[in-house]
Amino acid sequence: MLVHAITANIDYEFAADVRAGLTKPKQKELPSKYLYDEVGSALFEVISYLPEYGLTRADERLLQRHSNDIVERLPGPVSVAELGSGSGRKTRQILESLCRRQRTSYYPIEISRSALVMCERELSDIDSISILGFEREYLDGLLEVAAQRRAGHHLLVLFLGSTIGNFDRPAGVQFLAEVRGILQPGDSLLLGTDLVKSSAELLAAYDDELGVTAAFNLNLLVRINRELSADFDLSHFEHVAKINHWARSVEMHLRSTRRQKVHIRAAELSVDFAEGETIWTESSHKYSLEEVVQMARATGFRCDAQWVDDQWPFAENLLIAE
Ligand code: AVI
Repeated sequence: MLVHAITANIDYEFAADVRAGLTKPKQKELPSKYLYDEVGSALFEVISYLPEYGLTRADERLLQRHSNDIVERLPGPVSVAELGSGSGRKTRQILESLCRRQRTSYYPIEISRSALVMCERELSDIDSISILGFEREYLDGLLEVAAQRRAGHHLLVLFLGSTIGNFDRPAGVQFLAEVRGILQPGDSLLLGTDLVKSSAELLAAYDDELGVTAAFNLNLLVRINRELSADFDLSHFEHVAKINHWARSVEMHLRSTRRQKVHIRAAELSVDFAEGETIWTESSHKYSLEEVVQMARATGFRCDAQWVDDQWPFAENLLIAE
C-alpha cells in the first residue's frame, strides 16, 4: 500500500476569497469549501450520525446493499478516483466489491489533509488495494489521476454524499461536464444525490437540536479568526437554516445579532454588519430522479441505473461516459 499526500498552500487564496465574499454589495457570502478545516471535518462526521440528518446513512445503506450490482455493471479492470473522500467510511463497500474481482488502485482527492489521513486509516486494511491520495481541488486531482491511467483500465469516479448539491444548479451541471471532459467513453461516475423532501425535514436536518450544525457553521468564523487574524465575536453571530423554494435548496447562514464591525487583518479588510444581516455560507440543493437523468444527458453521460433508499429520499446514480 502506498499513501502519498501532495500538499498545497491555499492561505493567500483563502484571504482573497474571504475578502471577495464579504465585500459583495447585497448578500455577503463565504465559500462552503472553507467549512472543512480539521474541526469542521470532524463536526461534519458528527452530523452524519445525527438522527435528524439521514443523508450520509442513506448513502451508506445504498452502497452497502448495491455495491455488488454497481460493480457488475462496470466493464473490465477499473481504477477508482473519489472526489471528496471524507473519512472513506462509505467508500469501503464499493472498494471491497471491486477488490474481490481485481487488484484496485484507489485515488482519494481531498482539499482536507485530515480527511485524507482518516480515509487512509479507514481503508488501508482492504486486501488487494493500493491508495494514493491527492491533496487537491477535485478537478485538478482528477486530471492528475487520469494522466496516470493504466492502459486498458476504465476509471470509476465516485462523487458521493450529494456534494454536488453544494454547487448551485448551473455550476453543478458545469462541474459534471468538466468531469466528463476528463473521462473517456466507457468510464463511469457514481453520483450520490439527496432527493427533494419536506421543508420540515430539511430544517430539522440543517438546524439540529444539539447544535452540531450550528457549531459546524460558526467554526468558519473561528477559522477566519485563527488563520486570517480576524476578530469575529462568536457570541454576536448565530446559525440560521433557510429554505429556498425557488432554488429547491436549504441554505446555511450566519446572522449578525447586532450592528458591528469586524476586522480581518490578513485580508486587509474591515466589514460592517447591520443587525440581522447574514453571511450565506452554504446551499444544499435537492434533486428529482428525472432531473439527474437530464443532467447526465446534458453533460455527455448516460444514466445507466438509479438506486433509491427506502428510509431517506436519496439516490445513487450510475452515469456512463458516452
Ligand atoms: C457535504 N454536504 C453534502 C453536506 C450537505 O448536506 O449539504 C454538508 C452539510 N451542511 C450542513 N450539514 C451538512
